[in-house]
Amino acid sequence: MGTGSNARGALRKDSRHSVGSVVILAAGQGKRMKSALPKVLHPLCGRPMLAWVVDQALAIDPERILVVVGHGAEHVERALDQEGQLARTTLVRQEPQLGTGHALHCCAPQLSRKGAPAGRVVVLYGDMPALRAESLAALVALQHDRAADGAALLTARTRDPRGFGRILRGGNGEVRGIVEERDASAEERAIDEVNLGVYAFDGRQLLEALPLLSKANDQGEFYLTDVIGTLVESGRPVAALPLDDEQETIGVNTMVELAAARSELQARILELHMANGVYVEDPATTIIDHGVRIGAGTKILPCTVIRAGVRIGSGCEVGPFAHLRAGTVLDDGAEIGNFTECKKSRIGAHAKAKHLAYLGDATIGAGTNIGAGTIFANYDGVAKHASIVGKKAFIGSGTVVVAPNRIGDGATTGAGAIVTKNANIPAGEVWIGIPARKLAKPVSSARKRSTKATNRRKAAP
Ligand code: UD1
Ligand code: MG
Repeated sequence: MGTGSNARGALRKDSRHSVGSVVILAAGQGKRMKSALPKVLHPLCGRPMLAWVVDQALAIDPERILVVVGHGAEHVERALDQEGQLARTTLVRQEPQLGTGHALHCCAPQLSRKGAPAGRVVVLYGDMPALRAESLAALVALQHDRAADGAALLTARTRDPRGFGRILRGGNGEVRGIVEERDASAEERAIDEVNLGVYAFDGRQLLEALPLLSKANDQGEFYLTDVIGTLVESGRPVAALPLDDEQETIGVNTMVELAAARSELQARILELHMANGVYVEDPATTIIDHGVRIGAGTKILPCTVIRAGVRIGSGCEVGPFAHLRAGTVLDDGAEIGNFTECKKSRIGAHAKAKHLAYLGDATIGAGTNIGAGTIFANYDGVAKHASIVGKKAFIGSGTVVVAPNRIGDGATTGAGAIVTKNANIPAGEVWIGIPARKLAKPVSSARKRSTKATNRRKAAP
């Protein structure tokens, strides 16, 4: 799959491809989403859409990343902070939002260094999360080679160009401009080459063209796309790089497109895990968020959901129908089976919870068996509490462990036991019943084994 590393390496080798600024346009409301959430904050594989785009920017190692914010600006800022990306970005306010060209114009002060336009400016739209870093790197290289004092842009030929701006080309195939769909003639609408909204500009030319934009279009907005026509008219070079992979070109304007982008990013995440030696039996029904670590030799069985931040060791088995939520850690060889949910829990090496269980705020020792139907009752209606189970314990089917609680190494609970809060079962003891009490004379498993052996000897002919 595409990772940022190749692109980054390629750019680092050639300093002529350096990028002064990446500007990410993220101020729009996203009316077509029909959602109160700002468009760029819609989740994709466990993180907001915008975080994927900031990663694209980071992969080409620019001097600075500007994010244009407007609609829901405070939420966008908080999300970038939560993703650990705020320190790498500078937020620029666009108020009101008068179009993509206006959004970029709002960055003019930041794009000038001591009054002079600074270097190369790459522009990304916050709603293009599936773009690969390699494509961005190739765009920058093309702009350097063929349009150093102009611009280069990404395009795609598509069977369904609806919603995109169309690329206008002249008789010799040269780019002449971009026309937005709602301003296009029927003939122009038939053009199947579309604008992806990803550009590499010479900073000086860009800053000269931006003030010339007009609002004379159907939406009455300042279109960034018009900068391309302006550059062509003033004799500047414009180069286009068509992308082959349609999946990269998904622009998210609606919930349907959000789902398409999610499924593409999900496929890439799964491919990465499989390349690392993780067995994924059915990628089509497996959800693994961004930022999950899984060791080689682990099996992920169908219909399993693994949320961001979960860590899974080697040789584990998860699923089918398992749900691992934030804060869960599986040590090597642990097994979580069907209809088992883990939240903020650590499952020790070779420990098992194979059927119908809820493990919340629990720490399970190595080699412990959690029986079918076990519930860690971690929430008392006011606060969450933690429980700790030692090594090689045996929690009988249908046990409820009311938190906070401790169950010692090698302890056993009987089927259906209710271990009331702070019961704190000592190591090696057997507790049964409701409420669970210590079994007066537990038959130790060692004795049980030797009795069985004696009986077998007696029964032998
Ligand atoms: C835009 C392009 C179109 C291209 C398509 C690719 C323009 C005029 N059109 O259309 O040619 O085919 O993207 O996906 O650029 N934004 C702001 N401030 C604004 C308006 C928008 O920051 O005032 C941001 C939005 O948050 C969004 C991005 O710019 O992230 C693109 O805006 P959007 O409204 O989605 O443009 P499209 O109609 O998709
Ligand atoms: Mg869009």
